[in-house]
Amino acid sequence: MTNVSFPCYLVTKDAAGIRGAVATCSESDLPAGELLIRVAYSSLNFKDALSATGNPAVTRKFPHVPGIDAAGIVERSDSPLFQAGDAVVVTGFDQGQNTWGGMAGYVRVPAAWAVKLPSNLTPRDAMIYGTAGLTAAQCVEALVARGVTPASGEVVVTGASGGVGSIAVGILAKLGYTVAAVSGKPDASELLKRLGATTILTRADVVDESPKPLLAARFAGAVDTVGGRTLGTVLRSLKRAGVCAACGLVGGVEIPITVMPFILRGIDLAGIDSVECPMEQRVRIWNNLADAWRLPLLADLAQEITLRDVPAQVDRILQGGVTGRVIIRPEA
Ligand SMILES: NC(=O)c1ccc[n+]([C@@H]2O[C@H](COP(=O)([O-])OP(=O)(O)OC[C@H]3O[C@@H](n4cnc5c(N)ncnc54)[C@H](OP(=O)(O)O)[C@@H]3O)[C@@H](O)[C@H]2O)c1
Repeated sequence: MTNVSFPCYLVTKDAAGIRGAVATCSESDLPAGELLIRVAYSSLNFKDALSATGNPAVTRKFPHVPGIDAAGIVERSDSPLFQAGDAVVVTGFDQGQNTWGGMAGYVRVPAAWAVKLPSNLTPRDAMIYGTAGLTAAQCVEALVARGVTPASGEVVVTGASGGVGSIAVGILAKLGYTVAAVSGKPDASELLKRLGATTILTRADVVDESPKPLLAARFAGAVDTVGGRTLGTVLRSLKRAGVCAACGLVGGVEIPITVMPFILRGIDLAGIDSVECPMEQRVRIWNNLADAWRLPLLADLAQEITLRDVPAQVDRILQGGVTGRVIIRPEA
């Protein structure tokens, strides 16, 4: 490939503000890195919407190509760890933040960011999971590592129809947990039940505005993608020695709680960071997602779009309107 041109979703910033549009990029535009990867699919995460709209907590360098996820085929490798033709997935690190990301025909990344895809996981499958799937699996691993078993009791998942939430519901149910799914979308109930949720709760069911330090003990575990008052309510509703894996902030960044659930019920709050997830854990999780934890409904979670559909889907995810996962074919 000699400086080939390819479509990308380019976000620019000028005096008029921040704008995203389909554009043409070339290899010489890409950042340095050992692996040149032809992108088969990228995906849309909540964080990509923040990047695409210029949220400075995510992206400060413009022009920028968002996309914290990419899966595809290595076209050229300067690393002994990968060869041309390898199928790989890259999620997190700085990809799509201040390093150009997956919403393009090609990415160039350090070899240390890439994971070889298990043979039974296609690049499309990998992007249906994406960062959302990696994060959901990290949350489940955190509950398991801290001793929450299916016998411990009900596990609640908030933001359940979203990317992280829906995959967490599916993995937990597959592992035999009893799952209560919290969703603001009545029409997502059927999908959540098919994924294995036994109870559907509304968002209001897990927002208690009272100053009570403890609420009725209900859940043995929690995967929280929402944060804010929802996380505060979930933590106060955990049973003795309950564990909450917290990864999200769509509902706010402040947690209105006291120390009481920690010192009277011995609860555990596990923070989840997928961006810097260690490589050993990444490889283990991708192998699990391909096999033992594979969701039978994986294909049903995906809505496939191209680069020109990105703006509409960015608006939708920022309003909490996406069900499941949006995967992006890097075509104009
Ligand atoms: N820590 C990490 O490494 C990591 C990795 C991935 C994602 N995240 C974070 O996890 C969160 C979810 O990410 P995602 O990509 O899965 O996003 P997503 O697909 O948009 O899912 C979020 C879901 O949360 C619910 N929701 C939205 N706004 C809400 C509100 N104001 N109050 C209560 N619920 C609300 C909606 O589900 P319902 O309609 O079903 O309620 C929405 O579909 C984001 O905050 C993201 O930044 C963190």
